[in-house]
Amino acid sequence: MLAHKPPMGWNSWNTFTKNIDEKMIMDTADAMVETGLRDAGYEYLTIDDCWSEMERDGNGMLVADREKFPHGMKYVADYVHSKGLKFGMYACSGAKTCAGYPGSFGHEFKDAEYFAGVGIDLLKYDNCYHPSSPDMLRYNRMSLALKATGREILFSACNWGRESVWTWARSVGAHMYRSTGDITDKFESIRRLSESQLENLPMSAPGCYNDIDMLVAGLYGKGNIGFGSGCTDAQYRYHFALWCMLMSPLMIGCDIRNMSEETKKLLLNKELIAINQDEEGRPPIFVSANNGLKDSIICFRHLADGEFAIAFFNPYDRDQTMMLPYVEIGLDPLCGYGFRVRDIFTGESLGVKRDYFEAKVPATDCRVFRAKIVKI
Ligand code: GAL
Repeated sequence: MLAHKPPMGWNSWNTFTKNIDEKMIMDTADAMVETGLRDAGYEYLTIDDCWSEMERDGNGMLVADREKFPHGMKYVADYVHSKGLKFGMYACSGAKTCAGYPGSFGHEFKDAEYFAGVGIDLLKYDNCYHPSSPDMLRYNRMSLALKATGREILFSACNWGRESVWTWARSVGAHMYRSTGDITDKFESIRRLSESQLENLPMSAPGCYNDIDMLVAGLYGKGNIGFGSGCTDAQYRYHFALWCMLMSPLMIGCDIRNMSEETKKLLLNKELIAINQDEEGRPPIFVSANNGLKDSIICFRHLADGEFAIAFFNPYDRDQTMMLPYVEIGLDPLCGYGFRVRDIFTGESLGVKRDYFEAKVPATDCRVFRAKIVKI
């Protein structure tokens, strides 16, 4: 089964846009191994838009840009595979890709053959320049074309949440589906995109996950979607931890050949990754903040091993004490049970908490805990 858990990997778009080439991709494959990202679960290396020539060949086949990829795409795919990684590429359901390269509309079956010939393991399928037809039909068409190749290819549908994609993405065979417009390297964007999906998460489950968009953690304003100095480390922590709690696919967008120590530590955080990759894929329960700070996110998630994840996200620019009163999750104070809590960032055991659990959360930052239910 593909996408039993939220897919993890790296994608070229957020940092490199059209400035992609064979050497950068191969160096990135090396870096995925050397930094430990591959072994932490980031298995897909995906080349986004701007990889092809502007024209198809005489047989109507797509052609990789001859300057950027002088040895052709199969050569790159083989190299990526030789590193124990999976290889992803990008196409678009319209006449052109979003950056204006040849699109797959009317060429779906030929393009699927091309991609299978290259040996891809993931196809990100975008939604620009299409004639007016239901997105669902165009996405199912490419999904069928991929199936017809006989190759197992993870289908990453990217229609930015149009036409309530969460209601049909699973039905057309998508393994992940973009539910939002493009993320930018700003805290406001992280907040807006994630908050827009809190109610859609019940559709996210093994086999097909809601993709809130690729990660901006570690960009610090560099690359295609950077603004000024980007976000702070605390804000990237908020972002990454939230994507983990919400079971979004984790597609790194920064230049992993030059990551800061903080970025590396964050992206390799085993406990957060384990929450994201939890076997059962259960969406969290959201609890409203009881202090009037309505944009805070307090969530409680059942995990497959019988434990729970509790997370507090403070989007405000001042510190605040956040609280999970257990009655809000159905645990009455008289029942005689509480939670033994451990901070996943510090590893510190906080003991058994009865009736409620509260923690100080710095401005635009988060705290994440593992909890076990115990008799008091
Ligand atoms: C957008 C998509 C981005 C990126 C870009 C490429 O539509 O949401 O993630 O793929 O196109 O042009």
